[in-house]
Amino acid sequence: MTSKIVEELKAKLTPKTKLFTAGPVACFPEILEIMCIQMFSHRSKEYKWLHIDTINRLKDFLDCQEGEVLLFPSSGTGLMEASIRNTISPKGKVLVTIIGEFGERYATVIKENGREAIKLNFDLGNPVNPKILDETLSNHEEVEAVTITYNETTTGVLNNLAELAWVVKNHDKLLFVDAVSAMGAADVRFDEWGIDIIFSSSQKAFGVPPGLAIGAFSKRALELSEKAEEPGWYFNLSRYLKVQQKKQGTPSTPPIPQIAGLNAALRIVEEMGGKEKWYSMYERRARKIRSGVNTLGLNVLAEKGYESPTITAVFSPEGVKGTRIYEEMRKKGFELAKGYGSLVETTFRIGHMGYISDEDIEAMLDTLGDVISELIR
Ligand SMILES: Cc1ncc(COP(=O)(O)O)c(C=O)c1O
Repeated sequence: MTSKIVEELKAKLTPKTKLFTAGPVACFPEILEIMCIQMFSHRSKEYKWLHIDTINRLKDFLDCQEGEVLLFPSSGTGLMEASIRNTISPKGKVLVTIIGEFGERYATVIKENGREAIKLNFDLGNPVNPKILDETLSNHEEVEAVTITYNETTTGVLNNLAELAWVVKNHDKLLFVDAVSAMGAADVRFDEWGIDIIFSSSQKAFGVPPGLAIGAFSKRALELSEKAEEPGWYFNLSRYLKVQQKKQGTPSTPPIPQIAGLNAALRIVEEMGGKEKWYSMYERRARKIRSGVNTLGLNVLAEKGYESPTITAVFSPEGVKGTRIYEEMRKKGFELAKGYGSLVETTFRIGHMGYISDEDIEAMLDTLGDVISELIR
């Protein structure tokens, strides 16, 4: 009986395409396997061990020894809201750097939480320009914080976070980093770069199913949370910290399978030889995909030198809609990602996160070549 239920659901839900998505992404088999074990209480000694082991591994991975890492039962956007509610004074101002749709989302979250977002927009495909950021901060001494999208998933642009962080710290502002599609594939040196809050989601470069948000917080951010007027209950950072310290867990029930999956991901990184090796796997994949699309005569949206290690936005050829390429690739067994927002018809995107082999990339590029030739005929 049970197996019939499972078989029916598997038949309906198992992807029939290879995933080159923007997330959720294909997961490593070890991660899926550990997520299937029988559940245990989030106040049990097994959970406490899992929680603290995962936190310690993340602290090493993010070079975060002075700050704290916390885990949240939400997706990444929850931590955009948390960053604002816990640290920015009511009606306070935040400078939001925008290189695509997720920067826009941060500005909306700020406004909907009653604070003011001062937007600093750059052309799609470009990163944040550090000189312009510096000048804008000189003209807006009143802002309390700056937000940066480390990797803009809609354009496939990776900001130079070290350089931008240096500018923000020179102006002594809080620095919040949306690293949803960067963490796990692009280096994070939390203490050295002076980051105050950085966050991500499980379903991106760690290759874990969705449902878990990961955040790192500086002492300064956590002290502000302690004094915040209305941080709310669910995302109250100082409550998370206290519960982690006292009970080695979270205030409400955490997504235990995802945390076990993330722990497995961090062990895979270790087994591979450490994070540098893991990052170079991502770099290799990204280079292979970029050079493959260039060989097909297609251009990448991202400015040279700022191309993302996790996702590539590609201009579709003259006269061919990006959505057509997406649909034709899907029919042939490859799930790419559509262009996003205003770029939906002029671009399509190829995600490179999660469980993807070199052979998958080669097969995807061969099929893309066939699709393009059919569509431009
Ligand atoms: C850069 C970026 N920020 C924020 C988000 C939102 O993350 P979540 O869906 O986990 O809330 C995404 C999701 O794709 C993203 O790519």
